[in-house]
Order: sequence, then structure tokens, then C-alpha cells
Amino acid sequence: MASPVRSKSMATVRVKRFNPDSDAKPYMQEFQVPNLQGTTLLDALHRIKHEQDGSLTFRRSCRHAICGSCAMNVNGRNILVCKTPLQGQLDRKGVVTIKPLPYLPIIKDLVVDRSTFWNEYLRVKPWLVPPATSPEREFRMSPEEVAALHNAETCIMCGACYSACQVVALNKKYIGPHALLKSFLRVLDPRDTIPGERLAEVGTDEGVFRCHTIFNCIDACPKNLNPTQAIETLRRLAQKRTAFEAARVERQRTIAGPLAAEPTPAAEGGVRHVP
Ligand code: F3S
Ligand code: FES
Repeated sequence: MASPVRSKSMATVRVKRFNPDSDAKPYMQEFQVPNLQGTTLLDALHRIKHEQDGSLTFRRSCRHAICGSCAMNVNGRNILVCKTPLQGQLDRKGVVTIKPLPYLPIIKDLVVDRSTFWNEYLRVKPWLVPPATSPEREFRMSPEEVAALHNAETCIMCGACYSACQVVALNKKYIGPHALLKSFLRVLDPRDTIPGERLAEVGTDEGVFRCHTIFNCIDACPKNLNPTQAIETLRRLAQKRTAFEAARVERQRTIAGPLAAEPTPAAEGGVRHVP
């Protein structure tokens, strides 16, 4: 059969479809959308949904790469469709292929079941456990302590790293790069009072010792974070957990101390303080 004639003013969006209520298995469906400058992949999906097929199902919320809900697999890579221009993803024939995040059960079309993702996240106690006594104004972290976090606090929990990791694909008990990055953030935070408990939780063969250093998580992260490096740091700290715990207790003697003797932010050259 002759291939359909494709116009340069139109782009072809190939979408993986699956409705468990009516389809025996997933299939690919093609849609034509205008190939306009500035159109994102999410715009294209919206256009299809509003003008061609209202049953097309996908997640999105913020449209500004903040909420993390629109991660999908585009041309074989996990990305956020809301921040990705359509034109940059088209091949020479003007085609882009969009599938749901791999290795996760499909609920419908581009929506996957993230239950394991969130369960592993909760397993590492992602919240901060601060000292019982709070200082009068704020906890103070040094520039070196902030730098050591490597921006891990900017993770938006999109799942791109988790579903790019082949260890996750093979072993659903693996904690995963997203949760290990969060654990790293808490362990390295000088305000946190349970680094030993955290290291015991992740320092196992379902945690940091299960990572095979595949690096897919780094390639997939839309925020340019480095879960592999975080996992390596946790691995090292897990091996000297007792000493690290003792150092944290010592550090907290000063972090909750009176602020009056400390220099002002201006005197410190605009040091960033974490609330
Ligand atoms: Fe997976 Fe990243 Fe480790 S892709 S195996 S968590 S380096
Ligand atoms: Fe929120 Fe894309 S819609 S990150």
C-alpha cells in the first residue's frame, strides 16, 4: 500500500492508544495537526483531543514544567511534553511518536499507573524530620551544605527517571532513582535528625546496592539532576552510617543555636538560607 502523502504544513502525531474496556491490546493511531512555530507536544495533544478525538487520554496540569504530570515517552525518550516544541521532535517525514512512560501499567492511552512510584517514594520518608526544638528565627546552612545538595530539591517527581531505569523494569522492589534522590536530599540536609534511619532503609539490595549505574535516570531528568551521583553518595554514607549519624548530632548543636552571633546575609555575600 502506498504511504500517505504528508504535507510540511502538517505534522503527524503517532499516539499509542489503549482502552482496557474495549481494546485487546495497545495500538498506534496517527493524527494530523498544524505544524506551527511555538506549538508544544502538549498543545498538539490538546488540539487532537479538542478537535479530533475527545477520548484521547493524558495527564497534564501546569503546562510550565513544574507539576511533573506530563512525562511521556517521545521518540523513545522520556520527556515533559509541555516544555518540548513539536517541531524539534519531528523526523524527516514530519512524524513524532508519543507513548506512555515505559515499564508501568497503562491505565488508558498515555496515562500510566504510578502506584509503585509513589509507594517507593513514601518508603523513604520524603519529608524532613527537624530537631524537636526550633531556633527563634531559622535554621542556618552554610553555602557548602547547600551546594552539596546539588539542587536535588528541584525534583518535580515526574517519573521520567523511574520509568527510564531498566532495574525498575526488572525488579519492582527497587526503590528507584526518584526516591533515592529524595532520600539523598534529606540525608544531606543538616536539619534532618534521622539520617541513620534513612541510610539503613536505602542501604540495602533493594536500595542503593541494586543500582547498576546505568545512567538512564540522568539522561531522562528534565531538570538536569543527577540521581546516579546521589545514589553513589548514599552508598558511601551507608557504609559509614554510625560515624555520619554522630557527625549530624554534633552539627545540630550549632544549627539550632542563637542567631545573634551569626553574620547577616549581606555580610556573608548573599548566602542562600534554606527555611
Ligand atoms: Fe537506574 Fe539510574 Fe541506577 S537508571 S540503575 S537508578 S544509575
Ligand atoms: Fe506540568 Fe508538564 S504539565 S510538568
